[in-house]
Amino acid sequence: MPKFRKKIVAGNWKMNKSTADAQALAEEIKRELAQHSETDVVLCPPFTALKTVGDVIADTSIKLGAQNMHAEPEGAYTGEISANMLRDLYCWYVILGHSERRALFGETDEAVNRKVKAALAATLVPIVCVGETLLERDAGQTRDVVRKQVERSLAGLGSELAKVVIAYEPVWAIGTGRVATPDQAQEVHAFIREVLEAISDRATAQCARIQYGGSMKPANAHDLLTQPDIDGGLVGGASLEARLFVEIVRRAL
Ligand code: 13P
Repeated sequence: MPKFRKKIVAGNWKMNKSTADAQALAEEIKRELAQHSETDVVLCPPFTALKTVGDVIADTSIKLGAQNMHAEPEGAYTGEISANMLRDLYCWYVILGHSERRALFGETDEAVNRKVKAALAATLVPIVCVGETLLERDAGQTRDVVRKQVERSLAGLGSELAKVVIAYEPVWAIGTGRVATPDQAQEVHAFIREVLEAISDRATAQCARIQYGGSMKPANAHDLLTQPDIDGGLVGGASLEARLFVEIVRRAL
């Protein structure tokens, strides 16, 4: 992997952890990784634990991320959270367009694109998720599906595109224990970089970081993270246990 793409490992805690449990998990991770600067490390707790986790990691290089946001800056959007509210809690990152949000909450590429633009305008770094379902993979549609998601979710960003983190998360590998092989993942990552180049330019495509997500564990992390176009991981289940998450981060050099 070219040195200019620093690896980035993020823990997506999804809808898990009370504030007390979130604090304990963040403290354990901090004990192990506070001095670890070789990799960008991001913790994405639920909204309710952002402040607590942010306070724990405030004096470290570990960064805070949210799992979603609304595209509008403020207003009558009951139950929603804006980019500026996340900045207010010292979030650096926000996961957008996760497959669970696409499948369960009807988020379209166009909605994700609006959120990506709003996040960048508020100086948040979006982690934009794409990935095919098992049905789509079996029908040979992986490239088509992923190309459309990348093109539409990241339309109209100009030079800002280089700042965006993309997470390739094959839906069939999320929470299933069925991980993509390093070759399968690398193939799609390289393809995503081709799409990025087509919608921007070579330098931008080479700068953008592409994480893999889907049943990443310490046992498979090294083989995935040494692929030339895999620049990190977006970790679900294994990020809920400090020991597993820390081991994955240590394999991401
Ligand atoms: P798992 O690591 O639990 O498969 O989840 C991946 C994911 O959805 C991260 O966003």
